[in-house]
Amino acid sequence: MVYATLALEKPITTYRLNKMKQAGEKFVTIALYDAHMAAMAERCGVEVVLVGDSLGMTVLGFDSTIPVTMEHMIYHVEAVKRGNHKSLIIGDMPFMTYATPEQALHNAGRLMQAGAQMVKLEGGLWLCPTVEQLAQRGIPVCGHLGLTPQSVHKLGGFRVQGRSDQQAKQLLDEALALAAAGADLLVLECVPAALAQSISQVLSIPVIGIGAGAGTDAQVLVINDILGLTEHPPSFSKNFLREAGDIPGAMQQFVRDVKSGVFPSAEQSFN
Ligand code: KIV
Repeated sequence: MVYATLALEKPITTYRLNKMKQAGEKFVTIALYDAHMAAMAERCGVEVVLVGDSLGMTVLGFDSTIPVTMEHMIYHVEAVKRGNHKSLIIGDMPFMTYATPEQALHNAGRLMQAGAQMVKLEGGLWLCPTVEQLAQRGIPVCGHLGLTPQSVHKLGGFRVQGRSDQQAKQLLDEALALAAAGADLLVLECVPAALAQSISQVLSIPVIGIGAGAGTDAQVLVINDILGLTEHPPSFSKNFLREAGDIPGAMQQFVRDVKSGVFPSAEQSFN
């Protein structure tokens, strides 16, 4: 188990992630939920750890992210923070905890006090005044566009977004608006690879893709998918444990494959 070459040396900042984007150096994000995996992520050189509300499905047994509460998120952010002192930790804001700017400020503050260094919110133009207010008060924000799982019922299922010209233009406009409002990072989920690449090129902030092809500035996968724990894994994910043989090896292979551009391949992307 050779951690030394990958381990993070210094705490990761948004400044560092921007520098990596400018240098064309890919960074790695993993959605994970506990102290032990968080510590391993630091040793494996995972720059960003997302305490995603996917924990509703991966850990708590719900069939969507909608039942996740602030208390669930705080509990898991605190655990992850105890295990990891160098990755940048993003805490997801659960469904209906940021419906108004006031509510968002209150709940984002709670996540930051629990140990998050940035909060993630799903949504486009309607969210811009909220992003602006959070940014003005010193709370870094990660936007999330494309397939936004908290809107699964409105979207009619877990489906690829942005395939029509009109949808693609809307996604680009929303990405630009979120960045202009003060977002520091953007997650693009399940969008055609060419669209994700052009949004990443146009945006000055780093874009993290999941099911968005190889042209984004970073990649994120859920730890359960990396470790083959998901019964019906999404087509854009990969079980890295199968080849690596152990859990640290799987995490390190994910890091290496993202950084070298091997992951995601064309089969793990959408047209
Ligand atoms: O909740 C989560 O884990 C996420 C990622 C899949 C991007 O939002």
